[in-house]
Amino acid sequence: MWNSVPAIDEKRSEAPREERCSTNGSYSAKKYYQSDSRAEFYDDRRFVRGSRRRDTRELRLLRCALDRIAGVSSVLDLACGSGRIAECICGGGRRLVGLDVSPVMVKRARANVPGATFVVGEAERLPFDDDAFDVVTCVRLLHHVPSSAARIRILDEIHRVCRRSAVVTFFRSGALQDWRRRFRQRRGRAPQSRVCIPLATLRWEAATAGFEIHSARGVAPWISEQWVVTLVPRSTQEVI
Ligand SMILES: C[S@@+](CC[C@H](N)C(=O)[O-])C[C@H]1O[C@@H](n2cnc3c(N)ncnc32)[C@H](O)[C@@H]1O
Repeated sequence: MWNSVPAIDEKRSEAPREERCSTNGSYSAKKYYQSDSRAEFYDDRRFVRGSRRRDTRELRLLRCALDRIAGVSSVLDLACGSGRIAECICGGGRRLVGLDVSPVMVKRARANVPGATFVVGEAERLPFDDDAFDVVTCVRLLHHVPSSAARIRILDEIHRVCRRSAVVTFFRSGALQDWRRRFRQRRGRAPQSRVCIPLATLRWEAATAGFEIHSARGVAPWISEQWVVTLVPRSTQEVI
């Protein structure tokens, strides 16, 4: 059930071959969730259709990753949406803050998880001091971010505000879902704004932001693109 990083990826760290960098740093997911109807769909209906088993497993991997980090008293849930992850990880006396660029998502998160604090903001410019949180979670954002430079910018900000570890998800290339999407696009289906990258590329991006990959686990390896990754800041000595 617990899939460790394959040996071939263990050492490899690879810059992306092609860059799809938007000049103003904007991408569709920043705007997509701003509408009431999309927020309502995401909150009320998105997780009662599709693969519920995989969604449940994603949450289980996430909780497991957090449980492995000892003494966590504050968590930032970045790109918190309507509070799905915050709801799953709140409790245990932790201070939980959620941040999302969409005010309608934040409004829903406040109603769904009254015990946490939610703010509107951008992952690229976090309104928090350095080392403000023990842990940062960032679930289902990076695969919407189309360029390596933009992902590194977000990882940089996560690195700045997190003291201990970050738990992020990304879409890893090569899974059945990835091939199916590419096949459909070749047959004329409109391209989706989801980005699948090799683990080696995430490793390179994380390293550029000052992180090392501590563990990487697939929600359903070879079938689903979704991977849950724990990042730890490189020690000051190594960075120097
Ligand atoms: C697919 S939803 C994921 C929500 C939540 N993490 C979850 O797993 O249920 C993506 C979220 O990212 C937010 N988002 C997109 N770009 C963002 C940015 N630059 N800064 C903060 N939030 C962003 C969207 O508003 C949306 O709520």
